[in-house]
Amino acid sequence: MTELVYDLIICGGRVATATDVFEADVAITGETIAAIGRGLAPAKREIDARGKFVVPGGVDSHCHIEQLSAAGIVNADTFQSATTSAAFGGTTTVISFAAQHVGMHLPQVLEDYHALARKGAVIDYAFHIIIADPSKETLTRDLPEAIKQGHGSIKIFMTYDLLKIDDEPLLDILVAAREGGAMLCAHAENHGIISWMVKRLLARGYTDPKYHAISHARFSEAEAFNRLIGMAALVDQPIMIFHVSTAEGAKVIRDARGQGLKVFAETCPQYLFLTADDLDKRGIEGAKWMCSPPPRRASDQEALWQALSLGDLQTISSDHAPYRFDETGKLRAGPSPTFKQVANGLPGLEVRLPLLFDAMVSKGRLGLSKFVELTATAPAKIYNLHPRKGSIAIGADADLAIWDPDQRVTLSDEMMHDRAGYTPFAGRTVQGWPVTVLSRGRVIVADGKLAAEPGSGQFLPRSGGEPAKPTGRLVADMNPETNFGARLL
Ligand code: URP
Ligand code: ZN
Ligand code: ZN
Repeated sequence: MTELVYDLIICGGRVATATDVFEADVAITGETIAAIGRGLAPAKREIDARGKFVVPGGVDSHCHIEQLSAAGIVNADTFQSATTSAAFGGTTTVISFAAQHVGMHLPQVLEDYHALARKGAVIDYAFHIIIADPSKETLTRDLPEAIKQGHGSIKIFMTYDLLKIDDEPLLDILVAAREGGAMLCAHAENHGIISWMVKRLLARGYTDPKYHAISHARFSEAEAFNRLIGMAALVDQPIMIFHVSTAEGAKVIRDARGQGLKVFAETCPQYLFLTADDLDKRGIEGAKWMCSPPPRRASDQEALWQALSLGDLQTISSDHAPYRFDETGKLRAGPSPTFKQVANGLPGLEVRLPLLFDAMVSKGRLGLSKFVELTATAPAKIYNLHPRKGSIAIGADADLAIWDPDQRVTLSDEMMHDRAGYTPFAGRTVQGWPVTVLSRGRVIVADGKLAAEPGSGQFLPRSGGEPAKPTGRLVADMNPETNFGARLL
């Protein structure tokens, strides 16, 4: 009798990595990929993937899950609902947030979010630490300890009344990140411009959701990017700029990277597929499309696609930030709130990959390997999850999505598995769908059904990198003046 060598073989699919697409079987033993080849030895179970693509499960490196948000309320999802919806959309790793608000003790914050994720997650997860209270204890004791425990990335907000960090404490946080070897991620918009615009618009009676987009003046993005990049260069700290929405913002990043600065950036489907016109609906309906920064113009969409193709932007995340369109979420200030009173954020974990697959693979923009790079491999590398996550390679976790490139699906509110109750992309038809999804060798989605227990997802510790050396070579070579700050450290 032939010995069964592998637990599972995915047979005859077209395997896609960030560099290559080739026909091969993928064999799995336990939780990891054991072999990639043709005619692999028999396994206990086989999945026929002929006519389909086998791609790495998506890594969504920016999603707000069961989090006390900038709006002061908890997002609509639990870890169970959010990660279930991620799995149905072909995503197998999320990096969500452990959010410190002012007055909160960071170790307790981490413990609380760990407990929520441990209970509910059906896929693997990690946390970015949101710092809103950069006290001495936080920066010198709790944050270094948290980084050592595997939380190798920090997030700060430069706007939002509840969470914003001003320039001086931001420099302190950048230095703390540098000393721990952690990435610093930022929501970068100019708070003063936005709050000035909001006040003037409301005073003149402009309260509808469409004025939210106007209040986030385009320049507020580029200005904050420039300021953040300058401060990061001063102390020689790598940064990730979240959710780039404008052509001008993308250009600031291109210029900074052209100077050799350690700047990474992402955009999100809402900036590639929606515009400010989507907020312009009758009454308060447009609140469903309100996020920060807001969707912009068709010309920005083109500029962002170009920035993705040139490598100026390295990842596409969802910025999943779900609020129900009722008194618990978007309408918590009443049935007719002003735009200022509406929580910002859109659900997007489940539709991120189908929207991008349709645009990039089915419609041909940038192609399948770039789709894999932007949605799985690059975020895994940037956030220290690679080579365990984000690729199809021997020894990597068997986190895989089998895509049917021919299946056409019209997105609807009803088919979503998160708790927002709607999708801002309802009515769009996409071609290509993740029909089978595996997490660490387990089939977790098949035939439209979930087969994973809440709590079966695992925490992914990510060490901080090596603490930065006193002078970053690129910065020193390109700009000795700005590197002066690094030499002072
Ligand atoms: O509108 C958004 N993006 N809400 C979520 C919070 C954030 O990261 O800005
Ligand atoms: Zn943000
Ligand atoms: Zn966000």
